[in-house]
Amino acid sequence: RSGAVLVTGGAGYIGSHAVLALLDAGWRVVVVDNLVTGFDWAVDKRASLVVANIEDEANVRAAMREHGVTAVMHFAGSVVVPESVANPLKYYRNNTAASRSLIESAVAEGVKHFLFSSTAATYGIPEVVPVREDSPKSPINPYGMSKLMTEHMLRDVAAAHPINYCALRYFNVAGADPQGRSGQSTAGATHLIKIAAEAATGKRGHVSVFGTDFATPDGTGVRDYIHVSDLAAAHVDALDLLIARPEENHTLNAGYGKGFSVLQVLDAVDRVTNLKIERRLEGRRAGDPDALVADNSAILAALPWRPKHDDLDGIVRDALAWERALGERDGS
Ligand code: UFG
Repeated sequence: RSGAVLVTGGAGYIGSHAVLALLDAGWRVVVVDNLVTGFDWAVDKRASLVVANIEDEANVRAAMREHGVTAVMHFAGSVVVPESVANPLKYYRNNTAASRSLIESAVAEGVKHFLFSSTAATYGIPEVVPVREDSPKSPINPYGMSKLMTEHMLRDVAAAHPINYCALRYFNVAGADPQGRSGQSTAGATHLIKIAAEAATGKRGHVSVFGTDFATPDGTGVRDYIHVSDLAAAHVDALDLLIARPEENHTLNAGYGKGFSVLQVLDAVDRVTNLKIERRLEGRRAGDPDALVADNSAILAALPWRPKHDDLDGIVRDALAWERALGERDGS
């Protein structure tokens, strides 16, 4: 591998797993993270860590030069949908404006390839499920819009400058490194599997089921849960594709193409733990679609990548193992 990969948000949940996958594949890695929601201990020691904001162009460009960066993987950003509704400008700053600065730094330093963490939230409430990449993009919250705007910037920049990009639209990312090297560590979880793992390890008393009247087989929301290590591996393959085909850009759904309901997820947690975690049936959250499942034929055609951890019980098991390890680290 020649050159190095600059990973923004490499101290965070998905970014730290991408760092592991890149290092394991033989890449040199430099992480830029402001450690607002990430942790320096989450960055593998084989990587360099620059503590800076990604819109700090002087620091980012110096890191690109010093390390001979040829590619950027951009994970840094804000990710809590309800917060984006309450504070949209935070999302347009941390996601859209910060990405603009980062892309400008990359172009100025002659970086050749850019991988972007996008989201299925760009689709809004899809008319057809499984959802294809060319489905209408009508985000229903500022989070999804802030990411879609970045996709549009990348499209325009790649047309004007010698850089190509791949945007991966993530579905519901869950689980943790099967070797126990990283996992989801940020407090204030909102994601179902993380919340269920907290309940299973005694950190909370119950799990709320938000909505039981969706147009799904059991009435609860259906999502496409993808193991974070599979997602990280997809990024490494996508980088290889950008290098092999410098004229091409790609926008790919990252999911398994298989949905599970909230109740199916909670059944899996009960099965794996031998517990009966209390479920409280509650009303819907604002803006939750009935079902969000990827049509993943494009990523399967574009990349050699194949899911390796697409087993719900396995995802839950890895999430639980990390939750227990976190408990020991916190001394709880
Ligand atoms: N849910 C519950 N109880 C909880 C938490 C969630 O019932 O305590 C339900 C939700 O209503 C939904 C499902 O579990 O039906 C999954 O909810 P998450 O909050 O885990 O994830 P979302 O599907 O809302 O959103 C996630 C990411 C977004 C991303 C989206 C795209 O948070 O960033 O997936 O699929 F855009």
